[in-house]
Formats: sequence, structure tokens, C-alpha cells
Amino acid sequence: MRSFSVFLLLSTLLVMIPIAFTLPTPPLPVEIDIRLIRINGGGSILCEDFVDKEDLVPSLIDPHNEMWALNLDGIGYASKPSQDKWIKGGLKTYGVKTGILLGKLEVDSSKEEEARTKLIKALDKVSPTEMDVLYIYNLLALIETQALALPSLNQKIALREEYLPYMKVMLEKNGSGARVELTQEEKERYKQTLGHLFPGSGGN
Ligand SMILES: *[C@@H]1O[C@H](CO)[C@@H](O)[C@H](O)[C@H]1NC(C)=O
Repeated sequence: MRSFSVFLLLSTLLVMIPIAFTLPTPPLPVEIDIRLIRINGGGSILCEDFVDKEDLVPSLIDPHNEMWALNLDGIGYASKPSQDKWIKGGLKTYGVKTGILLGKLEVDSSKEEEARTKLIKALDKVSPTEMDVLYIYNLLALIETQALALPSLNQKIALREEYLPYMKVMLEKNGSGARVELTQEEKERYKQTLGHLFPGSGGN
């Protein structure tokens, strides 16, 4: 009985080993970048490639003169105020490597198109009727969930963690990310959001 199962195990191994060595190597993953676009008062995009890394630190944010957007693999997402509400705004396209890298999704190259399409479709459902800085936060939260839910992506990615240090400065200094003055009501929402996201920091 015992020697029979050892024989079985051995013969299984002998069959499996050559199979393991002849399996095709999986295709290289494709990377989808998620980047934060910060456009300074002069209209230049702050980018790792053109600016010293030290110039990108959150403490140097110029809250009232910067325009912010999210760059998902070349597609731009931003909101802007129009009369008394926020609507979709900003540029539609960017270079895929433009902006400050928040994270990368690795996608199996055979599922790249599918993953990209699903992601874009999901992001289109996020309401742009939100202050720009918070709209970007909501988009990042959704990308994180999608990354876990989509079979072709299926990975953990901490985009908000990378974004929060930048966002905190904007919230504290009442920067809109759209080069407009926030209303008193909007500033109050910022204050609440700060208290919620950074409890104990004092919120100012
Ligand atoms: C931002 O707005 C809040 C609410 O009006 C205010 O208390 C706070 O002092 C403002 N912060 C700055 C840096 O202007």
C-alpha cells in the first residue's frame, strides 16, 4: 500500500517535472502609471523628469497658483468650478510619463486592453461635481478598489498614501487645485476632511 503510493508520487513527479520546464514563460506585465499633475503658476507641469526631486516636495506647494489633475495612463481627470458647482475640467490628455508618479498597476499584457477599458469605465462613474483636490482623492480610492477587483489587475496598490502628503497641504492652505478661491462652505468641508483623514493633527 505504502510503496504503491510512493510509486504514484514518484511517477507523478516524473511526469510533472518535464511539464514544468516546458510551460511557456508568462508574458511580461505591462505597466499602467497613475500620476499627479501639478501645473505651476507659470503653466509648467511639475515633473520628475524636468524638475529636481526636492522641488516637488509637498511643503513647497504653491496652493493658490497650482492646477491639479490626475493622469491615468495619459488620460487627464480634473474638475473646475462653473457658476455654483464643480464640473469636469482640465486637459483630456497628457504624456503617460508626465507628472509625479503615485503608483503603477501591473497588467498581464494579454489583458491590457480589457483592464484599461474597465478602469476607464469605472473612473467615468466618479462624479466630477467635487472640488478638484477631493475629486482626485476619490478617483484614487476607486483605482485602488478596482485594482483588487479586476482579475487581470488583482493587486494591492497604495495610491492615496502617496497622494495624502500633497493633499494635506492643499487642504490646510485652502488650495482648490483649480486656481480659484474656495467658498467659505468649501473651506469648511476641507476642514472636516482634514479632521477625518488626519485625526489629531489639529486640522489647521
Ligand atoms: C482655510 O479656511 C479655514 C476656514 O475658513 C480657515 O479657518 C483657515 O485659517 C484657512 N487656512 C488658511 C491657511 O488660509
